Amino acid sequence: MGFSSKCFFVFTLFSLINVSICDPRATEAALICANRTAAQSDRQVYVESFLEAMDSITPLVGREKFGAVINGTGNNTVYAFGECMKDLSQTDCNLCFAQCKTQILRCLPFQRLVTGGRLYYDGCFLRYDYYRFFNESLSSVDRTICGNKSFAGNQSLFSDNVGKLVRDLEFGGLRNDGFLTAVVSSGNLSVYGLAQCWEFVNGSACRRCLSDAVLKIGSCAPKEEGRVLNTGCYVRYSTQRFFNNSATDTPPAGNGGGSNRLAVILATTLGISAFLLFVSAVSFFVRRKILKQKREKQQLGALIRTVNKSKLNISYETLEKAANYFNNSNKLGQGGSGSVYKGILPDGQVVAIKRLFFNTRQWVDHFFNEVNLISGIHHKNLVTLLGCSITGPESLLVYEYVPNHSLADYVFDTKNLQPLTWSQRYKIVLGTAEGLTYLHEESKLRIIHRDIKLSNVLLDEDFTAKIADFGLARLFPEDRSHISTAIAGTLGYMAPEYVVRGILTEKADVYSFGVLVVEVVCGKKNNYVFKNTNSLLQQLWNLYGMGKCNEAVDPLLEGNFNKEEASKLLQVGLVCVQASAELRPSMSSVVKMLSENHEIPQPTQPPFLNSGSSEFSPFNLHGKRFFGQPSSSTQSSGNKLTESWIEPR
Ligand SMILES: *[C@@H]1O[C@H](CO)[C@@H](O)[C@H](O)[C@H]1NC(C)=O
Ligand SMILES: *[C@@H]1O[C@H](CO)[C@@H](O)[C@H](O)[C@H]1NC(C)=O
Ligand SMILES: *[C@@H]1O[C@H](CO)[C@@H](O)[C@H](O)[C@H]1NC(C)=O
Ligand SMILES: *[C@@H]1O[C@H](CO)[C@@H](O)[C@H](O)[C@H]1NC(C)=O
Ligand SMILES: *[C@@H]1O[C@H](CO)[C@@H](O)[C@H](O)[C@H]1NC(C)=O
Ligand SMILES: *[C@@H]1O[C@H](CO)[C@@H](O)[C@H](O)[C@H]1NC(C)=O
Ligand SMILES: *[C@@H]1O[C@H](CO)[C@@H](O)[C@H](O)[C@H]1NC(C)=O
Ligand SMILES: *[C@@H]1O[C@H](CO)[C@@H](O)[C@H](O)[C@H]1NC(C)=O
Ligand SMILES: *[C@@H]1O[C@H](CO)[C@@H](O)[C@H](O)[C@H]1NC(C)=O
Repeated sequence: MGFSSKCFFVFTLFSLINVSICDPRATEAALICANRTAAQSDRQVYVESFLEAMDSITPLVGREKFGAVINGTGNNTVYAFGECMKDLSQTDCNLCFAQCKTQILRCLPFQRLVTGGRLYYDGCFLRYDYYRFFNESLSSVDRTICGNKSFAGNQSLFSDNVGKLVRDLEFGGLRNDGFLTAVVSSGNLSVYGLAQCWEFVNGSACRRCLSDAVLKIGSCAPKEEGRVLNTGCYVRYSTQRFFNNSATDTPPAGNGGGSNRLAVILATTLGISAFLLFVSAVSFFVRRKILKQKREKQQLGALIRTVNKSKLNISYETLEKAANYFNNSNKLGQGGSGSVYKGILPDGQVVAIKRLFFNTRQWVDHFFNEVNLISGIHHKNLVTLLGCSITGPESLLVYEYVPNHSLADYVFDTKNLQPLTWSQRYKIVLGTAEGLTYLHEESKLRIIHRDIKLSNVLLDEDFTAKIADFGLARLFPEDRSHISTAIAGTLGYMAPEYVVRGILTEKADVYSFGVLVVEVVCGKKNNYVFKNTNSLLQQLWNLYGMGKCNEAVDPLLEGNFNKEEASKLLQVGLVCVQASAELRPSMSSVVKMLSENHEIPQPTQPPFLNSGSSEFSPFNLHGKRFFGQPSSSTQSSGNKLTESWIEPR
């Protein structure tokens, strides 16, 4: 084998390695949540700003591999910054970032909204905070994370190499794109390193950040792995080649510069034994790659079969165009799981396109199965799922377009709409109950909606209620964070056993339905349970005790309502929001109560009512204290709340 053919051979192997080791590096290095929480009263607004920021940062990262956005106003402003490692391909960057976005929600559990968080992945980084932090380089929460395995060979040699490597990184980092990878080899021992400053950290700040990181990472040797996660930069070394090498080598622009350099490295630092080791490593990677490809092919085959069978797949490009490239003017709404846009398909059909906040690629098979099952569900009171797309940077769901706004728009009068008449309200409540009965008891799947609220009940031309977003939770069984964001906005609708203990049965939907009934009849929002004792449910309970239930009916009706029906609806509402899940009726019995005059049981009291003297009444259930009494510090308003009221499970 002549020198140049040997080089060619090695070079070919090298490109194979590059491909095979290339992955989004979506492994978590650290999640750091800040120590500062949003005011309980601002919860909803804050979550909205946060989701807007995540929505608007995604296309930026999808284009340039970094992005910074500012969304919201006042105390609910969210600053967000995301960046991928510069050696990742754009596709890998998208994958890493999608994963990162879903996981940073762990800083926003529904119990308290933390107004800052940083998530370091090995392939990407995401931070959100309440102030403009984009050019910061160092802070007190910076972390050094060493591997837990010590290098087995000559440790002093290893430490020397790490030292040399990090010095290379420190000085190499001064390049103007703030990124460098390096390799130090001696004997059969190689150490690989990567350093990157975030985009808005300027030259001098980057230098400071890297010097600090290099100082700290040195302490990791002789561990095989070390990372420093600074505010403005990321440094990692490892005995594994973890980065995409081609980004650092001079591009092989026909003159073989890359292979020449490789040859020099080989000639000077690698002995024959190292070369053999290298070859065996290469064959290992190649085999792994082939296996992986085979597995992917199998998965893809199954996927294509499912798609063809279901005819549900619509290409991303088609949908993107249909929604006018997700222009803000096409936006219909924003929920915990994504934003919804109006779109017109090429055949003229008007649809609603939901742009999922969550990446579905990791569980593509499962996703398609579920979409298939859910698309088989048809009921006059459920929004029909028409299709989906998983090929683009984001996953999309396509629904039938329901023209007449959501129930929330009417009841909370956000859009100056004509108030609903009594008969419309009755019909909507009954339709919602029928839709839920179908989901719980009649469909093959037994779906618990989990997020029944006014904004998830849409109205068509003749004011038939259509429940939206059912089955969404089924699509993300592993993704608990989806659920907690959805929850963050809708705490007022949540059954106590679900909030506190995570117990989820159909009766949680029955509770939310009860709140919905009361809101529709009274024309008011049920305040978040902790906020004050004067919640809608409490007022109604008090009136019910005095036999004056009908005084709670929406004054906008000006008395134009059927008194008997009104008392019936309110009593059904109260029966559904009882503290004890066992006492709540099933949805099919609710339908019977509403449509066939079945007897309605006497309600017991809703879960949170109490004395009414203290501003925050403790949560009682069967005489037991349900929620800890918040300390007085939690009562101050603004962003200074620090207590966690409910311990995370
Ligand atoms: C949060 O802040 C308090 C006081 O400001 C401090 O004592 C505590 O250690 C901080 N906790 C974390 C995790 O930073
Ligand atoms: C969020 O911020 C970005 C830029 O900071 C902006 O382009 C986008 O329109 C904002 N989104 C909303 C809904 O305000
Ligand atoms: C960040 O930029 C702001 C101006 O936007 C400047 O006032 C501040 O000093 C900068 N901070 C750092 C750490 O570079
Ligand atoms: C090293 O850490 C990994 C995960 O971080 C863990 O699974 C493994 O058990 C640890 N090994 C030792 C020897 O502690
Ligand atoms: C190669 O590394 C192993 C440990 O990984 C060590 O035991 C061996 O002595 C090394 N061989 C040479 C030639 O340096
Ligand atoms: C370890 O490497 C150093 C060079 O850094 C060398 O002087 C020493 O002899 C080596 N020790 C062993 C046990 O191989
Ligand atoms: C970089 O940021 C620092 C503040 O951290 C500032 O003092 C310095 O002037 C900036 N340098 C340049 C070149 O913008
Ligand atoms: C490696 O990085 C280069 C330059 O950023 C990029 O063009 C290439 O697609 C990457 N290769 C892989 C397999 O990710
Ligand atoms: C923001 O929060 C502070 C307390 O942290 C409060 O004093 C201020 O009024 C709030 N501002 C707005 C606009 O809500």
